[in-house]
Amino acid sequence: MERADAGPCRRAPLSPSRHRLDTLGAYPFERLKVLLSGITAPAGLAHIDAGAGEPRLPLPPFVADTLQANLSGFSRYPTTKGSDALRNTVADWLTRRYGLKEIHADSQILSANGTREALFAVAHALVDPDSREKAYVLMPNPMYQIYLGGAILAGAEPYFMPCTPATGFAPDLAAVPEEVWRNTAFIYVCSPSNPTGWIAGENWYRDLFALADRFDFNIVSDECYSEIYMHQPPVGLLQIAEGLARTGFSRCLVMNSLSKRSALPGMRSGFIAGDAALIGRFAKLRTYTGPATPVPLQQVAAAAWSDETHVERHLAVYRRSLEAFFEAYGEGEPPEGSFFVWLPVSDGEAFAKAAYAQQAVTILPGAYLSADDASGNNPGKGFIRAALVDGPEKAAELARRLRQVRI
Ligand SMILES: Cc1ncc(COP(=O)(O)O)c(C=O)c1O
Repeated sequence: MERADAGPCRRAPLSPSRHRLDTLGAYPFERLKVLLSGITAPAGLAHIDAGAGEPRLPLPPFVADTLQANLSGFSRYPTTKGSDALRNTVADWLTRRYGLKEIHADSQILSANGTREALFAVAHALVDPDSREKAYVLMPNPMYQIYLGGAILAGAEPYFMPCTPATGFAPDLAAVPEEVWRNTAFIYVCSPSNPTGWIAGENWYRDLFALADRFDFNIVSDECYSEIYMHQPPVGLLQIAEGLARTGFSRCLVMNSLSKRSALPGMRSGFIAGDAALIGRFAKLRTYTGPATPVPLQQVAAAAWSDETHVERHLAVYRRSLEAFFEAYGEGEPPEGSFFVWLPVSDGEAFAKAAYAQQAVTILPGAYLSADDASGNNPGKGFIRAALVDGPEKAAELARRLRQVRI
């Protein structure tokens, strides 16, 4: 393939002489550790850790009993695709949540060990590293860094779509050159978005489907923050696909997880749903890579996808935390979705260092979640991300302390 001139946000081509793993930077939290090493936080202030997006809510009540009742399942190998019971429960949840009329648990749903491994591995199912065509994987910038690692290590070339205040934090579909669309294997969508909180609307998805059909690529939608939103429940890719009468969710793969909605990040449980042909392909890959979910955890997962009471309780805490943060901060508004605050600052790294040194607060520099474009601009550089995972009081305290940071 003759690589097209893809405009200003295209990444420089990978060097054939370098192992692709060596082209990836250290993971954001490793970089953060290095950034803050040697800095001492003020002794008199309790530390607030708003760095990682790890929910810190009490364990949902059914977890311990369900696990206890199913311990004997540890003596069996789990199947890669997941039990019928779990896949049926997920199908029921998708039907309730998105009003789907038809989804087949057997051919359109797989268990995943959290979305992270699946988001990474999917690139290996959808990209042919030996092909000179379809070399691009599109992704938002800033992004969940797994998209970048997945694309690069699968042999693709990442194409970054800047999500900035100027685009309303949406990936601008119209700004992608036709040559890039033509050579796109698939696109990662993240809605609600980590870190910006943007939520994709129906029209945005419609435009994306039109492009996917015209240029023959697939869509991988990361919906793991789908149950954390300020106003309306976000629409999902499968819902829009069905509304457009796309038989069998053609070109779609959706991933979701219990990590955020059920505050069970340590359980490592999620699902993949969509187009049966893509699911079949991915299932085959997964029989080789081996991410089967232990049987007792599948039982807990089925219980978690069947219960919305704990999810509503969690959502109420996140909403109160976001409101408390912005009330105390005195500027800006809660994001549409997710529990992240994406705050503009003059320099994210300098701000993160100062926040730790002056206020005993750990936050993530925005640039650790984004990539330089071809001109060296980085859309995350002038931001920091704070995760509101410790409840409303700490969120307000975090806002007051961030207000006092001076760089
Ligand atoms: C956008 C996004 N996608 C996926 C994940 C992975 O979550 P898990 O593997 O726990 O489902 C995360 C975790 O922080 C995330 O922020």
